[in-house]
Amino acid sequence: MAKTLEQTPILAGVVGHPVSHSLSPIIHTIWAQRAGIDGYYIPIAVPPDYDDFARVMESLRNVGFAGVNVTIPHKEHALRYADIVSDAARQPGAANMLTFSEDGCLAENSDITGFAEAVREKNSAPGTSALVLGAGGAARGVVLALKSLGLTDIRIANRTMERAKDLAGAFDLAVMDWKKKSEAIDNIDLLVNTTSLGMSGQPPLEIDISGLNPAAIVADIVYTPLKTALLEDAESKGHPIVDGLAMLMHQAVPGFQKWFGGHAQVDEALRAALVSEL
Ligand code: ATR
Repeated sequence: MAKTLEQTPILAGVVGHPVSHSLSPIIHTIWAQRAGIDGYYIPIAVPPDYDDFARVMESLRNVGFAGVNVTIPHKEHALRYADIVSDAARQPGAANMLTFSEDGCLAENSDITGFAEAVREKNSAPGTSALVLGAGGAARGVVLALKSLGLTDIRIANRTMERAKDLAGAFDLAVMDWKKKSEAIDNIDLLVNTTSLGMSGQPPLEIDISGLNPAAIVADIVYTPLKTALLEDAESKGHPIVDGLAMLMHQAVPGFQKWFGGHAQVDEALRAALVSEL
């Protein structure tokens, strides 16, 4: 039966700058098709200024958008713009989800639960200790995810020691020497790279992981390339690995469920569809 004009589709999207290479529209479109939902998920490029961001949010609300994912450089803007901020977004100081309703605009953070879920997929009890490389916004989210998984001994190493100390002070972490990171992996259950090292076009991450506990999970939050040199090395040594795509798929689940109201399954078919786009 043909759709009538009264049956308006559900609208959502991703707001960033740049955003044209985002894989999120593919994820949401696949889930909407699977669930037979009449919905559209659209990439929206918004210049880096807060004022531009706020103006676009007003427009999206006026035309009836259910919500948006928010990515670089607007994750802090999303928090500033929102009327209501969830604890999960307040703690890292960044939001990747805005939901519009009559009660106002709600900011949430599914990057943290997304990373935690990607780790849990490999091991539901991943242990107690981790080394996190990097001290930027991504590292902050990863640290909160690790805490939510019950890890108690979290070490941080970063090229700029001051940034490592700031993060360590905020979350009660141990600071390690960046130059001695290969020695800081003793007895850890998880190694996570949150730096841009190893990403396509960036210098490689130089770390010797031969001393790592064989059962330790190795994670890298980038997905270009899908398998960084660190993940290749870890996989060849038999470690369970978590890549950026796993995190990306899991962070998309709460938004889809909330805005489109359907079931969102992270599985091999979804991964294959995304890999074919890389
Ligand atoms: P994000 O929010 O994605 O974490 P960011 O705040 O720019 O982005 O952080 C990037 C991280 O990659 C930082 O930990 C950065 O180290 P510094 O704090 O010393 O800048 C790290 N990084 C980027 N390029 C690096 C390089 N060439 N060598 C070592 N670390 C690097």
